Amino acid sequence: MRIPVLVLLPLLALGSWGAQSLVARLTGGAAAAEALDLAGLPPGPGRDAVYYTCRACHSSRQFVQQRLSRDEWDALLTEMVKKNGMAEPEPWARTLMLAYLTTHFGPPDDEYGGLPTAPGQEETFGICGACHSIRLVTQQRLTRADWDETLVWMVEEQEMDPLEPEDRKLILDYLATYYGRDVPR
Ligand code: HEC
Ligand code: HEC
Repeated sequence: MRIPVLVLLPLLALGSWGAQSLVARLTGGAAAAEALDLAGLPPGPGRDAVYYTCRACHSSRQFVQQRLSRDEWDALLTEMVKKNGMAEPEPWARTLMLAYLTTHFGPPDDEYGGLPTAPGQEETFGICGACHSIRLVTQQRLTRADWDETLVWMVEEQEMDPLEPEDRKLILDYLATYYGRDVPR
């Protein structure tokens, strides 16, 4: 069955879980996966719970730039319930969301999230920690070629602004040196 785009757009604009599940039911299969775009939220346990709970009212941009401790996220959830009309999450869902939010959007370990001091530290932290915790980067061990591809992927698929050539080389050298394939964790 084909659904005219004009029918779907207002439903998507509404952005509520109800509208999305309706879209999912209407379009089915691959099209539904596209409609339920999880972009902006890194994969991991709890992503769906956060997506469906928080995206009901606002874009994930509202919170992916936050870096909060578990207690601060907990307080924020309470604020969403008390002040902004969010439904009180079930205890298990709250625990799951807090774990997800703290893992991906928790406070950095220190000023530069544990990145070694060397040329490129500041740029890597500032640019690569803007959309997700820098931990998503520092937990990787990749070859230079794979880091290069990661940077391409960030720009082409994840809405990162293209880097100036000097910055790109600086960051790539930095990542390949300190987060290279053979560097111990
Ligand atoms: C029922 C609607 C609703 C839900 C659900 C909701 N929020 Fe909010 N949220 C709001 C409103 C309203 C504001 C304040 C207005 C604004 O800044 O746009 C807000 C603001 C925010 C802010 C920025 C303001 C601040 O206090 O720092 C963050 C961060 C945030 N929400 C995170 C979340 C997270 C995380 C979730 C999911 C657990 C969530 N919200 C779920 C309605 C909601
Ligand atoms: C504009 C936002 C944005 C910026 C800036 C950004 N990323 Fe990402 N990044 C994402 C998103 C969104 C994901 C999750 C993608 C997915 O797997 O669905 C991600 C995921 C990743 C992952 C995880 C891949 C995996 O296999 O789990 C790595 C590594 C990564 N980014 C590296 C970087 C590096 C290095 C930089 C800095 C050069 C950077 N990112 C800057 C948005 C961004």
